[in-house]
This record gives sequence, C-alpha cells and structure tokens, in this order.
Amino acid sequence: MPAQPDQGPVIREAGPDEDLELFAAIRLAASPRDWPGPPRREPGRLMLLCDDVACALAGRSGLADSVTVQVYVEPASRGAGIGQALWERLVDHARTLGRPSLFSTVDAESPEGVAFAQHRGLVEVGREVEARRRIGDEPMPAPLPGIDVVTIAERPDLLEAVWLAIGADGYADIPSPSELAMTLQDWLDEEAAVPEGSFVAFEGDRIVGYAGMLEDEHGLTTVARSHRGRGLATYLKRRQLAWASSAGVAELVSYTQGINDPMQRVNEKLGYEIAPPWLKMKGPIPR
Ligand SMILES: CC(C)(COP(=O)(O)OP(=O)(O)OC[C@H]1O[C@@H](n2cnc3c(N)ncnc32)[C@H](O)[C@@H]1OP(=O)(O)O)[C@@H](O)C(=O)NCCC(=O)NCCS
Repeated sequence: MPAQPDQGPVIREAGPDEDLELFAAIRLAASPRDWPGPPRREPGRLMLLCDDVACALAGRSGLADSVTVQVYVEPASRGAGIGQALWERLVDHARTLGRPSLFSTVDAESPEGVAFAQHRGLVEVGREVEARRRIGDEPMPAPLPGIDVVTIAERPDLLEAVWLAIGADGYADIPSPSELAMTLQDWLDEEAAVPEGSFVAFEGDRIVGYAGMLEDEHGLTTVARSHRGRGLATYLKRRQLAWASSAGVAELVSYTQGINDPMQRVNEKLGYEIAPPWLKMKGPIPR
C-alpha cells in the first residue's frame, strides 16, 4: 500500500477506558488546576482526542439551556489550529442536543483560554471560586440557642424534606447565569453522599438550615430565607469541620459562585483558602 500523505493531527472519539485516562492526562497538562481524574461517560456527551496532545468534550450542561463545551490543547501544540478544529466538531455536536447556548468553564489564570472562548462568542456570566481548608484539630462549636441539629445518617428520611423546605429555594438563590437544572431526583441521587457529614438544623419542628457533604467536598449549604444573617451557616460548617476532624478527613473543598456570594464570606471567616476563580462563559450556538 502506498504511504499515506501526512494528514496532520487526527481527531477521533474517545473509546475504551485507556482513552479516558489519556483524556485526563492531556486535560491536566493543558489546564493544571483542572479536575485530575478521567471524565465520566454520559448520554449525549461527545469526547474527542487529537493524537496525544489535545482533547475536548461537549454534552448537556447543568444549566437547562446550555451545552457544555471544553477544549484542551497541551501548551507545546497551541496556535496551530488544533483548538479550532476540535471546537468545530463540538459545535456540530452541540447543534444536535436541542439547546440554544454554549457554556464553558475557563481558568481565569489562563489568558489564552479566556481569549479563545471570547473569540468564539462566549462572555463571562459568572464565576466559580474554590475554597480549600486543611483539617486539623477542629473544636465542636457551642450550640446555637433554639437550634437542634441532626445528621442525615441519623435521619435519612430528612433529605427529601430538606429539599422541599429549603433546598429548592437555596438553589434558586445561588447567583447563577441561568436556571440550574436541579430536580428532587438529582438532589436525592447526589446530595449528602456522606450522610454523617451532612447536617440538618431545626427550630422546633421546622427545618431552617442544611449543610451537605459529598466525597471530600461540601455539598449545598442553605438557610431558610427567614433565618439568614444569624450565623446558622457558619455554625453548620463548624459542625462539619468538627466532623471532618473526627473522621480523619485531611482536607475539604467548597465551590461557591461569584465574588459577592455570602457563602464565600463564611468560608473566608472559617479559614478556607480562596483560589483564583474559574470563569463561567456562555454564548449562542452559531447557526
Ligand atoms: C484555548 C486552547 C484550547 C486553544 O488551543 P489552540 O490549539 O492553541 O487553538 P487554535 O490554534 O485553534 O487557536 C488559537 C489561536 O490561534 C489561531 N490560529 C489558528 N490556526 C493557526 C495557525 N495555523 N497558525 C497560527 N495561529 C493559528 C486561532 O485563530 C486562534 O486565535 P483566535 O482565538 O483569535 O481565533 C488552549 O490554549 C488550551 O488548551 N487552553 C487551556 C484550556 C482552556 O482554557 N480551554 C478554553 C475553554 S474551552
């Protein structure tokens, strides 16, 4: 067979698990503060690899109107059109998902990444801020007068009641670029993955606060609208720190939205280290 002419970089769909490991390695080389593990397979999610230098994905976002698109090209291979080639494949795929917008999360510390997204019609619509806290010897906080606390481990039945009482309101009040597509079923599937570290606050028989724990990461913290500004979130997070200390958790991470998020002030007060933000960028799917 005659030798094939050099066709340039070859883009292919990620297949077996080794491909997902390769995807993770490329993503980390291109975007060092990103999630280090392999991406999950999800229905409708396209994952692409370009040799061993670039990768990209497109799939339904947690924002009901958007398709998430992410492109990663390792530094030595940039500026040669690989990012653009992957982008075109992602946009073609996004058109098949029946949603009007593209959404991408970009490291604010990466001027190339921000410019790439801006040049393709995406604008900043919000920020996500990561806060980390090493866990040492964390004291149990003094009780809050009039407030009783139970864990989801003690009362698993409460998770649904928390959603109905304050969880849905809590999500609605998170400063976000558009409506978060969170349902009761998602909540039951994802929240309080670590039930011993997930605390519910009662005033009498009324649920007034909740602080959830996922694997080594805070879940939703939310307080009834009527009970905000009284230190309840700070108290529940102190309970979580005390729990983490007794459970031997080395570090906790918390993600909050935007610069004026009250949750971020609570985290700062509790000694969390705040990292540079991730930009949430959004724009129309080109027709
Ligand atoms: C953003 C990123 C994916 C760009 O990858 P890339 O392969 O350098 O992208 P391209 O080469 O296709 O495009 C980069 C620029 O070079 C230009 N370019 C394209 N082909 C070129 C060529 N042959 N020679 C010179 N420049 C070229 C492009 O026009 C583009 O400029 P523009 O943004 O003004 O359109 C890469 O910097 C990266 O991985 N960053 C970290 C992850 C990230 O932030 N991703 C963005 C979120 S989706």
